[in-house]
Amino acid sequence: MRIAVTFLTLLFLLGIICSARAETKLMVVSDLHYLEPSLYEGSDLFVQTLRNGDGKITQYGEELLAALYRQIGQEQPDALIVTGDLTFNGEQKSHAALADWFRRVEESGVPVWIIPGNHDINVEHPTGYAKGTVYGTKAATPEDFFSVYSDFLETGGPGFSYVAKVSSSLWVAMTDVARYQDRAETVGMFTAQHASWLENVLIQAGKENARVVTATHHNVLAHTSFSRDDFLMFGSERMAALARQYGVQINLSGHLHMQHIVRENGLTDAALGAFCIWPHRYALLTFGDDDRWSYDAKELNEKFLPDGFRRLSREWFTGISRDKMKASGITGSDEETDAMADYAARFHAAYFSGTYRKDDRSWTRDPAYALWESRQDGSFVTYLRLMMSEASDDPLHAEGALSP
Ligand SMILES: [Fe+2]
Repeated sequence: MRIAVTFLTLLFLLGIICSARAETKLMVVSDLHYLEPSLYEGSDLFVQTLRNGDGKITQYGEELLAALYRQIGQEQPDALIVTGDLTFNGEQKSHAALADWFRRVEESGVPVWIIPGNHDINVEHPTGYAKGTVYGTKAATPEDFFSVYSDFLETGGPGFSYVAKVSSSLWVAMTDVARYQDRAETVGMFTAQHASWLENVLIQAGKENARVVTATHHNVLAHTSFSRDDFLMFGSERMAALARQYGVQINLSGHLHMQHIVRENGLTDAALGAFCIWPHRYALLTFGDDDRWSYDAKELNEKFLPDGFRRLSREWFTGISRDKMKASGITGSDEETDAMADYAARFHAAYFSGTYRKDDRSWTRDPAYALWESRQDGSFVTYLRLMMSEASDDPLHAEGALSP
């Protein structure tokens, strides 16, 4: 009797194991903005150009890719999803070098799936940097893009849209909404062609009992009132409606260069911070065997980066913000303007990296906040209040349960 019960229990457990879906782990990166080293090596002008930019630390692009390779080795994901802005400004040379790196990742056993962003195809006048001067370099066309990356994408949808079948039960609808027909445009567009293709994908997924996640470069939901123009794709309502209709719960995006998650009526848009900017984020999207999913934004492990790099990269980012604030004409004594610029730089760093939490009182108790509040005419204080009021409760984590 006892043997029979044990045998039945074993059969029951085996049944559960066989019917359950295996856990799947996707690793996501966005906005690598990689520049092939021969296009800038030895150029002070390039470093100066970056110093006037938005915090990209592209002069360490090789070190960052090396660290990411090791991070992928540690995470052992089922696939690497790259949501566009692969290159600095669409240089053919950068794409070719990056494709070699993706090949190495695939050789390590991790499939790579990519879509372009607004800095990848038909960018006007991409440049290389020499000592004290710049020169033109070849921009990738759609044909170049396809021939360089044919191993890391499929065909089937508008532009470079396709379905990445990570497994029979998990599909990623890689939705290319970037516009580059004549020349690269900043804002993406979800068109009627995209809608028709995506709906067919979602219907087919339903028939095959597969769960679908979508991935775009541009955002499908507005993250904040100050990141709507230029970031939210045209036709976003149409894409969001379709996603909701067919039970898609999460869209993976980038483009914002800010780590932020927004959820509206059951749909989450997880905008991943730019990989090329401190704190060099990647994300893990994990599906359990019970249909639950979780999204977590992570930072590259310090041990994979050169000694002191994390600190150097943070100082690079805050230094750029601090200098911009100082140059913006803040009024007050030297001591006051230093404190205010420093506060703005620290706040930007916290906000863009996704570590600022809504209602974190330490920021409004800071003496420099009172200085900013006293400058009612300054545009930064208006922006600061907006950022605080529209902050996400948790810009690093989201979760849910997908229905098949
Ligand atoms: Fe970007």
